[in-house]
Amino acid sequence: MAEAIPSPDRSRRSIAAFDGRRPRYPGPSGTVRGVSSYALLVRPAANRVFGAEAARLLGAELGLVDRWALGDVVHDISVETIAAIEYVTFTSAADPPELLPTIAVLSSALALFVREAEGLLRPVPLPRIERFDDDLVTTQRYVGKTNEAFTKLLLNLGVAASGRLSSLLAGDRVRVLDPLCGRGTTLNQALLYGCDAFGIDADAKATAAYATFLTTWLQEKRLKHQADPSAGRRRFRLTIGRKGAADAGGRIVVDVVTGDTGDAAASFGRGSTDVVVADLPYGVQHGSRTAAGVSRRPLDLVEHALPAWRTALRPGGAVALAWNTRVLSRDDLTGALASAGFDVLETGGFAHRVDRTITRDLVVARR
Ligand SMILES: C[S@@+](CC[C@H](N)C(=O)[O-])C[C@H]1O[C@@H](n2cnc3c(N)ncnc32)[C@H](O)[C@@H]1O
Repeated sequence: MAEAIPSPDRSRRSIAAFDGRRPRYPGPSGTVRGVSSYALLVRPAANRVFGAEAARLLGAELGLVDRWALGDVVHDISVETIAAIEYVTFTSAADPPELLPTIAVLSSALALFVREAEGLLRPVPLPRIERFDDDLVTTQRYVGKTNEAFTKLLLNLGVAASGRLSSLLAGDRVRVLDPLCGRGTTLNQALLYGCDAFGIDADAKATAAYATFLTTWLQEKRLKHQADPSAGRRRFRLTIGRKGAADAGGRIVVDVVTGDTGDAAASFGRGSTDVVVADLPYGVQHGSRTAAGVSRRPLDLVEHALPAWRTALRPGGAVALAWNTRVLSRDDLTGALASAGFDVLETGGFAHRVDRTITRDLVVARR
């Protein structure tokens, strides 16, 4: 006997927490007076990582990216089960030119459908934004690696909050700094988007492993690149793209320093970056290195580093941080950001359990 397919109404969870606007359009199916109703399929790999949370996080990401970058064109964001598969559903009037490219960059978006009459889902091709093969972010495996789908989510929110998402989608130069870059998950995601990627980490083994990985990957992909031999022993700098290209916009800069994150502004320059994205030490695998030695308190690290991160950001730039709520409260973190001169933006709905000792959340603030 065929299994009953849950009706959309019964299986619909509204994402009101982060899409607090009153739904303007009747949903959920079909097109009503130029308003399309969409269903966004969640990437299965992301589902494995975040379990039941993937669709909820994707909906939360869509809500904020819409608010910060699209200007409130997306409505009625929900998680719905259609024929036993979870989708993020939403409505949008007309087709703003940036809607599809924006949907395409969302961290765990796999495929988009317009919902038509009688429950039919019509596929809508999504543009490809990535400049390189995505094995750039998936190949490396190591203890302490930040999950790549979550890193992408964090980067997307940082870029959207900094007002540079449309530039990123247009292929313009956007500069991303991970001041706790480890072996480069954020840097690689930034490169995939064609951004310049700056990183700093105190762990020389991590930065060396990143330099080796990236160089090998570029060679294997036969991508033109030039290392900068003048960078010095504690710095790895290279340019991807044709040497001497008249159009500097066609070239991408990677610049990674081994050192203390408090030196980020001195290393990269005042106002040198549009977005700072970092995954704070969890106090489990990684301690926070401060002047006083290795501390288990990420707050010590944040208070030590925020002035430098702020100086490295251009005015209007944004910082997006992930952290373990078991070792640092949201109030302490947002308090430190405010004391350092940042405007903390509203970002509810992202907390999720990673394992027994880690519950991860994120915060976004603007300079
Ligand atoms: C959670 S890990 C980041 C992992 C990274 N996102 C990745 O996927 O490889 C935090 C990083 O902070 C670095 N760290 C801690 N204190 C630091 C400091 N004072 N200066 C620079 N790096 C520091 C650690 O070495 C570690 O690589």
